[in-house]
Amino acid sequence: MTANPTFAPTAAVQQDYARYSADDRWVWQRLFERQLTVLPQVASQRFLDGLHRVGFRANEIPDFSLVNPRLQAATGWALVAVPGIVDDATFFDLLASRQFPATTWLRTPAQLDYLEEPDMFHDVFAHVPLLTDPFFADFLQALGTLALRHLADPAAIEKLARLYWFTVEFGLIQEADTLRIYGAGILSSAGETAFCLGPKPARRPFDVAEILATPFAKDRMQDVYFTITSYQQLADCIPALALAVGNAP
Ligand SMILES: [Fe+2]
Repeated sequence: MTANPTFAPTAAVQQDYARYSADDRWVWQRLFERQLTVLPQVASQRFLDGLHRVGFRANEIPDFSLVNPRLQAATGWALVAVPGIVDDATFFDLLASRQFPATTWLRTPAQLDYLEEPDMFHDVFAHVPLLTDPFFADFLQALGTLALRHLADPAAIEKLARLYWFTVEFGLIQEADTLRIYGAGILSSAGETAFCLGPKPARRPFDVAEILATPFAKDRMQDVYFTITSYQQLADCIPALALAVGNAP
């Protein structure tokens, strides 16, 4: 999601699987293996189950044409290849139809730890596994549908962007007695994976009103993370969210 529209809805691309280089395969494998040394201890079990269910492996860059049937079977979602960040209208329109926009390119070996724009490791490795969870899948579609109704209302879009940010990108979940990570912005970042559960940031219970009143920064680790207790809690917050953003103009 971005305030800087970059690509028109017609700019969808195909994943050109034959074009991946040895560097691309090295980057995918290195990032995958590095995250998998820590994620089994700190990531949401639904994410870890989803990773297996969509068939992601360290030694194989995901092929969208093989991932999509698995995703379709789980929740009816599909990956759509895009060249980069898409404009809000495109982004929400895709979510509303259970399609997740994903880049098909990978960062260079020199960019392992930081990258300004999301690449395929973020979009695919970090976002796709949780799309196999039925509550999360419904929540994301409902968020897209709600946002589509408010495209002409920047204040409402900003609120919905905050909710997306503090859940889909940077959410934590209490699972049994353990605090776990489900936000894709954390799961694709080795640094933030360690940081978010450490002593520095604040962690607060999921609260729609509080999240809508909390601005976020894109260029540094988060000051605060919000913790859900189940994915159903996300799906169940949609009516309150719709009320909070008001009627479409
Ligand atoms: Fe993302």
